[in-house]
Amino acid sequence: MSKTQRNQSHHHRCLFLPLIGLTFIASLFVSMWLTASAQTLASEKLKIGIIGSGRVGSALGKAWLTAGHQVMFSSQHLEDDKAFVATLGPNALAGTPTEAAQYGDVLLVAVPYGALPSLGKELGNTIKDKIVIDACNPIVTRDGEMAAAARDKGAGLASSEFLPNTRIVRTFNAIPAAKMAEAATKQANFGMPMAGDDALAIQIVSRLVRDAGYEPTLIGKLAMGKYLLPGTPLAGEHSVEELRKIAAELK
Ligand SMILES: NC(=O)c1ccc[n+]([C@@H]2O[C@H](COP(=O)([O-])OP(=O)(O)OC[C@H]3O[C@@H](n4cnc5c(N)ncnc54)[C@H](OP(=O)(O)O)[C@@H]3O)[C@@H](O)[C@H]2O)c1
Repeated sequence: MSKTQRNQSHHHRCLFLPLIGLTFIASLFVSMWLTASAQTLASEKLKIGIIGSGRVGSALGKAWLTAGHQVMFSSQHLEDDKAFVATLGPNALAGTPTEAAQYGDVLLVAVPYGALPSLGKELGNTIKDKIVIDACNPIVTRDGEMAAAARDKGAGLASSEFLPNTRIVRTFNAIPAAKMAEAATKQANFGMPMAGDDALAIQIVSRLVRDAGYEPTLIGKLAMGKYLLPGTPLAGEHSVEELRKIAAELK
């Protein structure tokens, strides 16, 4: 190697090493920040945005308020939601679906399945990277042909197409809303089957499942969400052991 080449190589090393150092420090900070925010979400009181404040949305929202979380309810009727939250104390708010999506660390989407395509477009980028609980069921008699297509695809995977770039956990799909409304006070310890692909989302949603009075029971990836529907073997109230046994036979 000539002297000039040696000098050039030395020069490159001088530039390169600090660059590696900086990259290392930056990635260390990013990973510390991600760990810190994951820990915050896993232990602190959460802000929950509810889209669809009907039977399921209101039952779960009330349970989460009782557990100490802050909840923004939304639907297509803001005035009704304002009147509803006026009865629920200072941790309950009302907003539009977009405001609820902005507000929530975690979102519960509990609307008729047929509303998902237009809702996804309406919410657009506000739901990007959000943890979304998908309680929605495609029911052909209510939602029409799109529900048949969603059932063919699998309810969880279809929901993720309508709500793109979100961290979906499918759960609360096949227990009647009236039962959900009282689960936290009854301590019956039924399992709540869940399906999802994102580890952090599963961790956070598990907390909310527990706060709603159920024992979180992961049955698999989001593709398994096709089994989380009324009328399937996993539907209704089961112990965790029963759910695991049923799920194992579905795979
Ligand atoms: N009921 C149950 O026992 C149960 C149990 C598990 C899962 N599910 C599933 O959960 C979902 C909700 O069921 P639900 O019984 O709670 O229904 P629901 O009582 O009819 O409530 C539906 C809610 O969605 C809102 N909504 C409809 N279209 C909307 C849109 N485009 N944007 C924003 N909000 C919209 C409605 O508000 P507006 O009145 O303003 O339209 C209403 O607040 C369904 O997919 C259902 O299959 C139901």
